[in-house]
Amino acid sequence: MALYIGLMSGTSVDAIDAVLCDIDNSSANPIQLLHTKSVPFPNVIQQQIHSLSNAEYAHDPIEEMALLDRELGELFAESVDDLLKDSGYKKEDIIAIGSHGQTIRHRPDAYHPFTIQIGNPHTIAARTGIMTVADFRTRDMVYGGQGAPLVPAFHRAIFYDPEQDRIIVNLGGIANITVLPAQGQVLGYDTGPANTLMDQWIGLHQSKSFDADGQWAQQGKVIPSLLQDLLSDSYFAQPFPKSTGREHFNLNWLHQFTCDEFVPQDVQATLLELTAITVSQAIQQHTSSATVILCGGGAYNSALKQRLQQHLDGYDIKSSQDFGVAPDWIEAMAFSWLAHRCINRLPGNLPAVTGARSTTILGAIFAP
Ligand SMILES: Nc1ncnc2c1ncn2[C@@H]1O[C@H](COP(=O)(O)OP(=O)(O)O)[C@@H](O)[C@H]1O
Ligand SMILES: [Mg+2]
Repeated sequence: MALYIGLMSGTSVDAIDAVLCDIDNSSANPIQLLHTKSVPFPNVIQQQIHSLSNAEYAHDPIEEMALLDRELGELFAESVDDLLKDSGYKKEDIIAIGSHGQTIRHRPDAYHPFTIQIGNPHTIAARTGIMTVADFRTRDMVYGGQGAPLVPAFHRAIFYDPEQDRIIVNLGGIANITVLPAQGQVLGYDTGPANTLMDQWIGLHQSKSFDADGQWAQQGKVIPSLLQDLLSDSYFAQPFPKSTGREHFNLNWLHQFTCDEFVPQDVQATLLELTAITVSQAIQQHTSSATVILCGGGAYNSALKQRLQQHLDGYDIKSSQDFGVAPDWIEAMAFSWLAHRCINRLPGNLPAVTGARSTTILGAIFAP
């Protein structure tokens, strides 16, 4: 057995997803998910992350960032302790933890492109006594890449099928697709918002953290003029490689379109449609038929799934659950797998996806 732990917390800032995986490249099933743990963020931490992720704040954030970096390190370490306790494994059984960290800024188009994930890896390594791999995105950026998305290499490792074209759609805060043809090059990029705008809009109007099953959206009607305005954002037409985040798709972005003039649930219906259309259009650029595999929390949004089905007539739409992996855990599994790649000196990025000049080993190793 070669046991690794993956820690993921995405743009949705909903929870720390912790997974325990057995990774064996010589096996037909190279990664097995043994145990999982989801640790919701305390509200105050959620607010601090959002405040630091807001690119337009007025105060000096350096002190706040350093404090939150350490505090998140402690929380990530606790999630590992909880996961291990549940699983019955001991720290000595684990080869490494791959910790994505919490993104507070992602600037692939800066003069010197950079990306910042916090959740101090020294703290994780010291508190758990387990080797920790972190900062997976920076090296790809130094090689001229977007540093994102990083999951396509993992999607290829677990979902590639020589008999059929497949497209993996990760519906987190942001949506990213992986185009996995039976023959030919793997591609992938962020298509735009998946849940983040819907989460922020329902937070503002209903004080809920997300729109369960898209029920609130379903009480509204799509506003065609607003939908056209949202679709006119230049990110959607931009060629790949490309990646995005809450720096761009946030409430300020939405307010440019005078959303407050509309019935709130109609805006929600329009945001759901925006996700469905932008994901579908991206998919249609690459194939005219394929098996589409949904993962990430948005895979549980039945209204969104319905709209995707409507737009993607002729495609076979499935959930990763149909392939034996719950949608919630794929990204965290990817970071356990990327830790395994790093420790075994294997490259983790796909240049055709990120736009990097070459493949490279991703991540920095923090000894226990
Ligand atoms: N039952 C559900 N109905 C609708 N949306 C859901 C449901 N379950 C989860 N989600 C959405 O999934 C998001 C979390 O997805 P996740 O894959 O963890 O994203 P991230 O990687 O950005 O944290 C939630 O914020 C919510 O928008
Ligand atoms: Mg999440």
